[in-house]
Amino acid sequence: GRRVTIRDLAAAKERGERWPMLTAYDAMTARIFDAAGIPVLLVGDSAAMVVYGHESTLPVTVDDLLPLTAAVVRGSSRALVVADLPFGSYQASPAQALESAGRFMKEAGAHAVKLEGGRRVLPQVEALVSAGVPVMAHLGLTPQSVNTFGGYRVQGRGQAGDELMADAKDLERAGAFSLVLECVPADLAQRVTASLAIPTIGIGAGAATDAQVLVWQDLMGLTPRPARFVKQYADLTGVMDQAVRAFADEVRTGAFPAPEHTYT
Ligand code: KIV
Ligand code: NA
Repeated sequence: GRRVTIRDLAAAKERGERWPMLTAYDAMTARIFDAAGIPVLLVGDSAAMVVYGHESTLPVTVDDLLPLTAAVVRGSSRALVVADLPFGSYQASPAQALESAGRFMKEAGAHAVKLEGGRRVLPQVEALVSAGVPVMAHLGLTPQSVNTFGGYRVQGRGQAGDELMADAKDLERAGAFSLVLECVPADLAQRVTASLAIPTIGIGAGAATDAQVLVWQDLMGLTPRPARFVKQYADLTGVMDQAVRAFADEVRTGAFPAPEHTYT
């Protein structure tokens, strides 16, 4: 079969079909999520935290994310792979955004890019779209702006909700093919979703968005203190802790390797 395209996602919204999106940062998890039918995989700059161990998404670079993106593309065959443009790789100018997006598409094989922000990044969105780069937008709690927000907190309450709605409409007009809404009140996400023809993708944005995204380590129970919006569908921390302790014990006692693991 062929890859999912941005036209497929637009058609899903017209049919009123919801879809799931997950982050992925390596070929093995990409293969599992792809085989399970996840139509869109995001190589998030959340890799800064869940792969590289940073405190925020700010330190990660294009060079850090390129090999992860290439691995996710190699590990998948059906999913549309979206590469997050990291902090500092697109804000300066449309030319900088084109340069960074071009690397993700040419060197890693990404099919689309994501960037954060509203009206301040419209020139970047327009330049990318006219160059043939599908753009996923991202509003609400945009983690690259954590220092201007003064922490990770709900965005878009009160008057800020009207601003977010205006940004969303401008991003759609500029050509974005979809919009992530992160940590915003559910009623605002519902109104934005109803006002746009492009699909909205919620994370901590309630049940009304066209799609839902989670960081895979959050959903699998690998994150020590997950946010309220996370549902844990598995306890991989427990599974892995048990397995590694069993391995360590059997090495210490000599029970592993047994004859069946041994060449004669
Ligand atoms: O980097 C990321 O994982 C994201 C998603 C949570 C939307 O931007
Ligand atoms: Na991100």
